[in-house]
Amino acid sequence: MNIAELLKTTTSWFRDRGLDSARLDAELLLAHVLQVERMVLYTSFDRPLAPDELDAYRALVKRRGRREPVAYILGEREFYGRPFAVDARVLIPRPDTEVLIDEVLKRLPAEAEGVVVDYGTGSGAIALTLAAERPGLKLLALDLSAEALEVARANAATLEVSDRVGFVRSDGLSRLPERFGGTLLALVANPPYIREDERAGLMADVRDHEPAMALFAPDDGLLHYRRIAEALPWLAPGGWVAVEVGHEQGEAVQAIFAQAGFTELSLREDLAGVPRVVLGRRPGGPPPA
Ligand SMILES: C[S@@+](CC[C@H](N)C(=O)[O-])C[C@H]1O[C@@H](n2cnc3c(N)ncnc32)[C@H](O)[C@@H]1O
Repeated sequence: MNIAELLKTTTSWFRDRGLDSARLDAELLLAHVLQVERMVLYTSFDRPLAPDELDAYRALVKRRGRREPVAYILGEREFYGRPFAVDARVLIPRPDTEVLIDEVLKRLPAEAEGVVVDYGTGSGAIALTLAAERPGLKLLALDLSAEALEVARANAATLEVSDRVGFVRSDGLSRLPERFGGTLLALVANPPYIREDERAGLMADVRDHEPAMALFAPDDGLLHYRRIAEALPWLAPGGWVAVEVGHEQGEAVQAIFAQAGFTELSLREDLAGVPRVVLGRRPGGPPPA
């Protein structure tokens, strides 16, 4: 069997199993097995596959057939132009979260110096990107999951920002070192926000493979935003809060932040036009920089 034939058969097998991105997935997995860029497949359609290559490919195709996300199978996902190692211990970073990064970078100038906290760091996507984009920042990356912190630590080493990122196992902000009280430049988060009653409606890829701890929040899904709102005194005057929210939570989260005393509240849409990021500011000071 050559590359063209194998891709055709696999694409149709994936389609029969209801995968939306059947052809793309077939190509990504094959490029991974052959250790080439995906586009190289298009210039070698006639190349026959060796038996060991076919075996390796079939094993990956089977995993995808069980709805395991491609990013876990490949062990990597790009976020804000950088590679992040990912596996079943962490949420796969989403392009929507890049909007949060854009908004935070707009508010923290290139020469900004100080500490930023990432609540629920997972793979480290947000914390490590901010560290890489802003050399004057120190990041505190919090997560309740010790396993997620292992992944984030490894990613920090790969991205060469380990010297400016601290990792803390913490339920919310409970283990945040006291000395940072009233000094943080920003508190950023993409916390779990899906309600339990939304579980059945999730794609199998997400529901059956990504960590439940990264997805679900109890009751109305807003618990973590309430906790983050309580952290206003941790920020320096003029410091920012920036959180990703579920598509129907923008108004409620702004109301929670307003009630806690945040000002300059705003809501930013993602690439699909869905309200996605809520921003606010601790009043009372010049912009920290
Ligand atoms: C939606 S994921 C976000 C991961 C990463 N920040 C990103 O944007 O790709 C939420 C993260 O919050 C962590 N988490 C869940 N409950 C937590 C808690 N009570 N305290 C701290 N982190 C928590 C999860 O382990 C998970 O890594």
